[in-house]
Amino acid sequence: MTRRILFVCLGNICRSPAAQGVFAELSKNAGLDLQIDSAGTGSWHIGNAPYGPMQDAAAVRGYDLSGLRARVFVTDDFSNFDLIIGMDADNINDMENLRPAGNKTPLHLFTDYTRSSGSSYVPDPYYTGDFEAALSLIEEASAGLVRHLQ
Ligand code: 4NP
Repeated sequence: MTRRILFVCLGNICRSPAAQGVFAELSKNAGLDLQIDSAGTGSWHIGNAPYGPMQDAAAVRGYDLSGLRARVFVTDDFSNFDLIIGMDADNINDMENLRPAGNKTPLHLFTDYTRSSGSSYVPDPYYTGDFEAALSLIEEASAGLVRHLQ
């Protein structure tokens, strides 16, 4: 059975498209049968490709994010996905505020799947400028999520 997984951040141009691209690659290599998407809780960047510096940093590591386009998180995502993953606590709170009564779709922080790193959220490189740190954390969490789903 295909499992459907959604990655969510604020703008859907840095962290969640990177998570989508990295996790798609790692889960494909692991042979998992998944449908993967990403969305943002904010609507500023709808239709836009991922932020250039994030695309460039991801490309150096072998992930092509160029075909992704930003969309906004919607209430229907709770029924259209089996697992929803936020990058930070604000993302989780913003989504919980849209959860339909009675819906039980699991919502987790991406850092729930990391082993070693001490961070409890994925810092936003759009503001920190540290695309390498974000990608390293996203790779670690993606590997952890692949293990969790195997
Ligand atoms: P993201 O980063 O949530 O990782 O996509 C952001 C990018 C842009 C904005 C916010 C967050 N913005 O407000 O434009």
